[in-house]
Amino acid sequence: MRKLTKQNMDLSCYLRESFKKEDIKMSFFKKHIFICTNLKKEGKCCGKESLPHEFIKELKDKIRTANLTGKGGIRVSSSGCMGRCEEGPIAVVYPEGEWFNIQDSQERQKIRDIIEFPHQKMS
Ligand code: FES
Repeated sequence: MRKLTKQNMDLSCYLRESFKKEDIKMSFFKKHIFICTNLKKEGKCCGKESLPHEFIKELKDKIRTANLTGKGGIRVSSSGCMGRCEEGPIAVVYPEGEWFNIQDSQERQKIRDIIEFPHQKMS
C-alpha cells in the first residue's frame, strides 16, 4: 500500500484517509443534548420563556453530580434555531436524533431519564 503523505494528496483527502474507521464511528460524548434557546424578533421561538435556560442549567447540574462530564459522558448545549419553532421549545438528543418538546413535563422527564440511565436505549 502506498504511504500517505501531504505531498501526494490534497489536505482534505489526507485527513480523511488518516482517520481509522473506528475513530470516525466513535462519538466523543455518549449523548449530546441540544436545547434551542433561539430568540426571534417575531413569531414563535424557543427562547422567549425562561424554561429552556432553566432546563439546561438543571441538566448540567445533574450531569456534574452524576460525574458524566467529558469523553464518554453526556453533554448539554444550547442551540440556535433548529427549524422546528412551531413545535418548540424544542430539544434533540444525539446520536439517536430523537426530538422533544420540553414544554411538556413528560418530555422533560424523558431527557432527565437519559442522564439517570445513560446506558438504556431510548424509546
Ligand atoms: S427557535 Fe427553536 S427551533 Fe426555531
